[in-house]
Amino acid sequence: MSITLGKSDTVGVVGAGIMGAGIAQVAAQAGHPVLLVDARDGAAAEAKAKLGKSLDALVAKGRLTAEAVAATLARITPVATLAGLAPARVVVEAIVEKLDAKRGLFQQLEGIVAPEAILATNTSSISVTAIANGLKQPQRLVGMHFFNPVPLMKLVEVVSGLQTDSDVAAAIFDLSAAWGKVPVHARSTPGFIVNRIARPYYAETLALLQERAATPEVLDACLKAVGFRMGPCELMDLIGHDTNFAVTTSVYEANFYDKRYVPSLVQREMVDGGLLGRKSGQGFYRYPEGVTQLPVAVHEAPATAREITVHGAGPIADALEAALTTALAPQGWGPERRRDTSLTGIAIDGARLVMTDGRTAAEWSQDLQMADVAVFDRLMSPTPAPGTALAYAVSPRASAAWRTQAPAWLAALGLAPLAVADTPGLVAARTVAMLINEAADAVQQGVCSPDAADAAMKLGVNYPAGPFEWLAGWSEAGVIEVLKALDAHYRGERYRISPWLRQAAAAKALR
Ligand code: NAI
Repeated sequence: MSITLGKSDTVGVVGAGIMGAGIAQVAAQAGHPVLLVDARDGAAAEAKAKLGKSLDALVAKGRLTAEAVAATLARITPVATLAGLAPARVVVEAIVEKLDAKRGLFQQLEGIVAPEAILATNTSSISVTAIANGLKQPQRLVGMHFFNPVPLMKLVEVVSGLQTDSDVAAAIFDLSAAWGKVPVHARSTPGFIVNRIARPYYAETLALLQERAATPEVLDACLKAVGFRMGPCELMDLIGHDTNFAVTTSVYEANFYDKRYVPSLVQREMVDGGLLGRKSGQGFYRYPEGVTQLPVAVHEAPATAREITVHGAGPIADALEAALTTALAPQGWGPERRRDTSLTGIAIDGARLVMTDGRTAAEWSQDLQMADVAVFDRLMSPTPAPGTALAYAVSPRASAAWRTQAPAWLAALGLAPLAVADTPGLVAARTVAMLINEAADAVQQGVCSPDAADAAMKLGVNYPAGPFEWLAGWSEAGVIEVLKALDAHYRGERYRISPWLRQAAAAKALR
């Protein structure tokens, strides 16, 4: 039976901390009477007073009217005890992240609210199934996972435990939408959607740092060039290495120590040393200064070539051809084009500049039987803005001349080449392939739909595209190539390919 919740339905919020105060604000702004309670005496009233101040500041900036603020505040009533939540039709819990505390709270609430009231938890990492264990009506407990800061972040993961009634999940989904949020359904599994799919964004950079493949500045620049608002190093510094390490560890443990999620020694050492990031004044960067800017590299003009051919059939090869045509125009000639080849890149006389397919420059060099080879990172957008940072690596057999010519050619294409160690999948291709792989596994396991994964990553952590959107601009076979190369290089479970990707690739091959 479908459940409809309206503005007149009272919303109870337990826990008046960062999240609870935000949830109370959003519910009140949507027109609901809100009852706010906290275990600490006076905390709910303090939270309301603080909210009043921040809303007044928005009135001063002309973003809200004084009347709207007064109406919002009038709808929020701090209550002294849980018993005060009796009229609530929905109770959202945002107390400490501890299973026993949450279980105990909901068991108490069952004796207070009406039998048809919905119980929602804002837990970010605890199993919704486990929180419901011991309730008389476990089917009415659902996850309602907001993101911080609640009034600004659009995403809500509506998390169903094993016993959650689908009508209850649907009602919370609709309620979130009525509050101006973008809800997505998720099945209760470690990390839900966002905290699970995001793991490789940190893990791949930490793995590259561990093998000293590049500096934090270079890795951050390469991933910001893909469109991520913050590079992984500056983001981990912002989140706090203690918090980020704890989330990784909890996902790792909750997956029975699946090596795919193994935490990083690099981060462990930072936590042990108290280098927690912004909050301790030092992480990968020093604060308040923050990210150190890379020096602007000056590349010499590429030497005159006798023959230049762009290889490849897709939009990236088209873009390379267009950029080269522009670069060579002043000399009065342009590149040749070959579409019937297995590589995407540029042949410059006896040298090759190839886009990564997972193989290292050393492997390409061997396969092509050529010394002067360099690989560059996947262009996640075929037409990057001028000055876009891009990782590249040169074959160990390359001549001294090619070591300066390879970046010179990339610079001539309008890119900002950044040298990294010769690793499979370099930086962007490797990271995005792993994000896609993790999302594919989540879909395979029924955690969420591809659309939900895309929406969750864009709205929960501001990714420039969703994993399945990246996949649409790449190909299952291409992603698998990169993952295979990583797996062959490192061995172990981290780079095992999602069965979903294999099946999707096979289905395409049949068409
Ligand atoms: P917080 O520490 O700011 O607030 C928690 C509040 O709950 C405190 O005011 C505390 O006095 C109160 N409290 C503790 N035990 C209580 C109990 N048994 N009954 C009533 N009140 C109690 O914590 P925050 O950051 O607001 O987190 C709350 C919940 O939201 C946690 O489960 C957390 O994992 C989750 N969450 C937090 C996010 C974040 O970025 N801070 C994001 C998404 C979820």
